[in-house]
Amino acid sequence: MAYRLKRQSSGALALHNSANGETMHPVWGPWEEATRLYVQGSGLENLLAARPGQGDREEAVLFDVGLGAAANALAALECHARLRRRGPVRPLRLISFENDLEPLRFALAHAGQLGYLLGHEPCLEALAAEGRWSGAHGQSWELRLGDFPRLIREEPRRADLVFFDPFSPRANPDMWSVATLEGIFRCRRPGGAMRLVTYSSAFSTRAALLLAGFHVGAGIALDGRRRATEAATYFSSLAEPLDLRWLNRWKRERDPWPCLTAPDRRRQARQTLLDHSQWSQFAQGPRPERAEHAMARSGGKRNLLPRREQARRRARQGKAATESR
Ligand SMILES: C[S@@+](CC[C@H](N)C(=O)[O-])C[C@H]1O[C@@H](n2cnc3c(N)ncnc32)[C@H](O)[C@@H]1O
Repeated sequence: MAYRLKRQSSGALALHNSANGETMHPVWGPWEEATRLYVQGSGLENLLAARPGQGDREEAVLFDVGLGAAANALAALECHARLRRRGPVRPLRLISFENDLEPLRFALAHAGQLGYLLGHEPCLEALAAEGRWSGAHGQSWELRLGDFPRLIREEPRRADLVFFDPFSPRANPDMWSVATLEGIFRCRRPGGAMRLVTYSSAFSTRAALLLAGFHVGAGIALDGRRRATEAATYFSSLAEPLDLRWLNRWKRERDPWPCLTAPDRRRQARQTLLDHSQWSQFAQGPRPERAEHAMARSGGKRNLLPRREQARRRARQGKAATESR
């Protein structure tokens, strides 16, 4: 048995995996973290709100990556139920990915101590036994049991939102590789917006999301030091996009590479990251890499003027020089 209950500094009980030494939801405990980081931090309420003109028929699709002890998934279902009591809401199709049902079974056996599973036991039992469950009020839940990096390549559904909650990049590197995240990015709706939230703020995680095609920003504050990460297909939907200061810090990082990036792919990965459209949203002047070259050429004096303005000034200077001759 790999799992046991562990009390967190917040006082909450969480599942601890003794095989890899990782605790699920170690910051605030399972329910608080599921609610604050994944439900509130992802804008799930906005996604579920019925849209004028489209009514409340078009379903919202949520990928729950790493079902674990089901805190994130149940928090999403409870959010949907709460909104439905207030008014019209879109149906929710929840798709959970997991390769090990032990944490769910362990959590069910300790439902009384964990608290948040109470009342949900019948739907969790049905999900584990049959791989699906449907609620009476526009909720459906499917389980994809198996290895996520492989499953996501074959996933037929398109998602609006992704709760990305594997074990850490150290313990679970294949989940955080560019190839896996590209698999998620491919599951966006045609022309549609997709958002992803995750607890990791590592440079390697954010770089992997950028290389997979997302735009990336800081998410909610997890503690005094760290911010969660949000990623989106559209730059404009990020509250606090990563900017050139982040890129410059990434360049100075000792190990900035996404998990499983082979050494001979790093040069290409670096160039792809530098060419990402995220930076052109900020850049008034030369692109960051070119700015460095320009600075080296100018002996360290950085020319921060946009290139077109530099050209205009050079032309004016040339004209003035010709006229004064
Ligand atoms: C941090 S826990 C998830 C906690 C969960 N979201 C919750 O709310 O309780 C990470 C989960 O990812 C699952 N996982 C790790 N590698 C996986 C893989 N390759 N495919 C599918 N699931 C995986 C683990 O078994 C574990 O349950």
